[in-house]
Amino acid sequence: MRHSKPSLHHPSSRSQISRFRLERWHRFWVYGISGLLLVTGAAWLVAHYFMHVAGEFGETINPIEPWTMKLHGAAAMAALFFIGSLLNSHIRRANKAQRNRYSGWTMLALLALLTISGYALYYLASESTRPAWSIGHWTLGLAFPIMLILHIYLGRLSYGVAT
Ligand code: HEM
Ligand code: HEM
Repeated sequence: MRHSKPSLHHPSSRSQISRFRLERWHRFWVYGISGLLLVTGAAWLVAHYFMHVAGEFGETINPIEPWTMKLHGAAAMAALFFIGSLLNSHIRRANKAQRNRYSGWTMLALLALLTISGYALYYLASESTRPAWSIGHWTLGLAFPIMLILHIYLGRLSYGVAT
């Protein structure tokens, strides 16, 4: 039986449908850095809220807490580099082709807010404003992987494939 829909995996149909998949190495780094951001952010939350240790003068912060942030800051810098590397090859092309625009722009807005609140945590937050920046930042941070999965799913769905 012949399928009327062109197969996306068949070489002859590749030229008919322009997709915006990343190359393997590129996808590896985008997923890897996103995972590292999430794991280090989540580790900070667990250490900060659930793993205080007893010190000489009462409860004190867990020594892994500063390490989670050293790694998180490094991951954040790498993330900005790799998101920048998507601008031309992925974002500009897909935006022009009007593919997956809503979730794509939502991703960009989310990343912009994460960057601004991350900057604020490092350079601007005072003792009184820090808790608000912190909660705002990590709430968006926990939404990031969900949004990324949704973005990829919707992007694939727009071609009629969900895998
Ligand atoms: C206006 C902005 C954006 C547009 C229009 C857009 C569009 C798309 C489209 C159409 C797909 C489906 C690709 C396919 O399966 O052929 C996709 C997948 C994807 N997008 Fe975006 N995107 C945008 C922003 C972003 C941003 C900021 C990120 C940052 C993390 C991102 C990461 C990805 C990833 C990792 C995939 C999966 C690619 C793959 O499976 O190889 N996108 N996007
Ligand atoms: C592009 C994305 C992101 C950027 C640029 C970013 C940047 C930053 C920066 C600069 C800090 C301050 C580090 C310090 O005070 O030593 C920070 C803290 C933090 N980030 Fe992120 N981050 C991002 C994504 C995430 C994600 C995905 C999570 C996931 C939960 C997350 C959770 C946290 C947490 C829990 C803190 C500690 C908050 C505090 O000190 O009160 N971040 N981030």
